[in-house]
Amino acid sequence: MSRHKLKKFAAAVNAPNILFEPRDRKGNWKQSFFKNTNPLVVELGCGRGEYTLALARMFPEKNFIGVDLKVDRLWAGACIAREQHITNMVFIRINIYELLNFFMPNEIDEIWITFPDPFSKGSKLKKRLTSTTYIQLYRSVLAEGGFIHFKTDHTSLYQFTKKVCLQENMKILQDIDDLYNTEIEEIVLTIQTAFEKKHLQMNDTIKYLKMQF
Ligand SMILES: C[S@@+](CC[C@H](N)C(=O)[O-])C[C@H]1O[C@@H](n2cnc3c(N)ncnc32)[C@H](O)[C@@H]1O
Repeated sequence: MSRHKLKKFAAAVNAPNILFEPRDRKGNWKQSFFKNTNPLVVELGCGRGEYTLALARMFPEKNFIGVDLKVDRLWAGACIAREQHITNMVFIRINIYELLNFFMPNEIDEIWITFPDPFSKGSKLKKRLTSTTYIQLYRSVLAEGGFIHFKTDHTSLYQFTKKVCLQENMKILQDIDDLYNTEIEEIVLTIQTAFEKKHLQMNDTIKYLKMQF
C-alpha cells in the first residue's frame, strides 16, 4: 500500500462515521447505534457513498448504512458526511458476503445496489451482488415487505438479475430498461453517482429493478 493510501487508511480507522467489521452492532443498529426506531436502509457496494449520502439528505427520518470493502472510497464519503453534518448515516467496511455477521434477520428495511461490478467472466459470475448466493443473504436480513432497488448500465447483469429474481420466487415490482426515457415519478431514481454519470456520457441506458421477496 502506498504511503498516501496508508495515511488514508489510518484516518479512516479513527473516523467516527466509518466502522470496521462492527460485529457488536448486529441486531442493535436502530436502538443502540442510531438511537431511534426509524427504518434502516442499506446500500451494498456503496463506493464513495454518493447514493447513500443523497438518500440520507432526502430522508432525515430514516437511518442509512453504506457498505463497501474499499476504505479509500468510504473515506471520501465519510468526509462529505462530516462536512455536511449528515448524522443519520454511517459507513461500514465489511465484505457483503459476510452480511449475516453484521445484521440480524429482518433488521434491514430496504436495500440499494447501484452500479455493482458486472463480474462478467464465467468464474466470477458468483461474485455478482445479485447472484443466488447474495440474494439468499438478502432474504435473511430483509424485513418482510422490504424492497431491493437495483440500478445498472450493464445489460447482461440486468438480465441475469431478473433471472435470479424469478428463480428465487421474488416479485419484480418495477422493471425499467431505459430510466431516462421513461417518465420517472420517484425522485430517488434520479440520484446519479459518478459511475452513472460516466455511463450516461457514453450513451449507455440505465436500467432499474425494484424487487421484493
Ligand atoms: C462499480 S463500484 C460502484 C460504487 C457505487 N455504488 C457507485 O455507483 O458509485 C462497486 C463497488 O462495490 C464494492 N464491492 C463489490 N463487491 C463487494 C463485496 N463483496 N463486499 C463489499 N463491497 C463490494 C466495490 O468495492 C466497489 O466500490
